[in-house]
Amino acid sequence: MIRRRIGEHGREVNAIGLGCMGMSAYYGAPMAEKDGVALLHAAIERGVEHFDTAEMYGFGANEQLLGAAFHDRRDKVFIATKWGPIADPATKLPAGYDGSEANARRAVENSLRYLRTDHIDLYYLHRKDPATPIEESVEAMAKLVKEGKVRAIGLSEVSAETLRKAHEVHPIAAVQSEYSLFTRDYEADVIPACQELDVTFVAYSPLGRGMLTGVFSKDWKPDGPDFRAAMAPRFVGEAMDANLALVAEIEALAAEKNVNAGQIALAWVLSRGEHVVAIPGTTKLVNLESNLAAADLTFSNDEGARLENLAARVQGQRYNARGMGAVNA
Ligand code: ATR
Repeated sequence: MIRRRIGEHGREVNAIGLGCMGMSAYYGAPMAEKDGVALLHAAIERGVEHFDTAEMYGFGANEQLLGAAFHDRRDKVFIATKWGPIADPATKLPAGYDGSEANARRAVENSLRYLRTDHIDLYYLHRKDPATPIEESVEAMAKLVKEGKVRAIGLSEVSAETLRKAHEVHPIAAVQSEYSLFTRDYEADVIPACQELDVTFVAYSPLGRGMLTGVFSKDWKPDGPDFRAAMAPRFVGEAMDANLALVAEIEALAAEKNVNAGQIALAWVLSRGEHVVAIPGTTKLVNLESNLAAADLTFSNDEGARLENLAARVQGQRYNARGMGAVNA
C-alpha cells in the first residue's frame, strides 16, 4: 500500500483513506450505527488510517458514528473533520457560512465531544466564509493548534490565492477539494500550489460520487434523500446520459486491464502526484476492499491518453448554482 504524508511535517498515512459522509448523510438512507461501526473497524483492519468527516454530515451524526467506532482505538486512526457551514437549527437547512473564531470554538468543542477524543488530527475550514477574511479563520484554527485541540489545519474548495494567503498565517497541511477523472478544475493552479507549498491535496469524490464505478444507470432512483438526485446536475436527464457514455469508456479500459472502473478512477487520482491522496466513500466492505486494491494499479502512456479528455466532455456542473458559488473561493 502506498503511504503519503499529510502536510510537510505531518503524519504519513495510507494514500487511500475513507470518506465517511455517505454513511450518515446525503447518499440515501443512513447506515445503522452497528453496521457503520463494524465497517469502520473492518477498514482499520485492512490498513485504512485516514477517516474523513465533518460537522455538517448529518449534523453531528457522522462524527458520533466515528466516535463510537474509534474512542477505544484512537491511536490507530487519523481523524479529519471540518467546520464553517451553518444550518438553521429548526429546519436544518443550510444557512450560509461562519468562519469566525467564535464559530470555530463552538464547532471544535462539539466535534471533540461527538468524536469522543481530545484532539482532531486535521481540522478543515469546510468552505471559506465570504464575510470573514481567510486570515481570521486560519488564525482561529492556529489558536486551536496551540491549545492542543487540533494537530494540523486544512482548507476545502479554496482558490490558490486563498491558499497562499492562509499559508502565510499558519502552515496549511492539506487542501481537500473534489478531484477525479470527471472533475479537474484545480489542476491549473491549486494542485501545483499545493505541490510548491508542501500541502497535501486530498481528493474527495474521487469516484465522481459513485458515477465512475459504473453502478449508475439511466433509471437510477435514490433509496432516500440523496444529494445527487436533488443538487448534482451531472446526475440528471441528458447530462446523466452523456456522462454514462463516458463511464462506458472507463469500463472498457477496466475490462482490458482486468480491474473495475472504480479502480481505474482511484489509481488515476493517485497517479497525479506524490502529494495527492484520495478518500473514496463507501458503505460496503466489498467496495472498500476493491477501492484499496486500486493503489497498486498503474497506466501505460496510451492508457493515460485514453483517460485524458474525459473531464472536458462531462456534461453538467458538479453542484447546483448555490454550491458552485462556494467553491474555488
Ligand atoms: P464521496 O467522496 O462524495 O463519498 P465518491 O467517493 O466519489 O464520493 O463516491 C462514493 C459513492 O461511490 C458511494 O455512493 C458509494 O456507494 P456504496 O456505499 O454503495 O459503496 C460508491 N462506491 C464506492 N466504492 C465503490 C465501488 N468499489 N463500487 C461501486 N460503488 C462504489
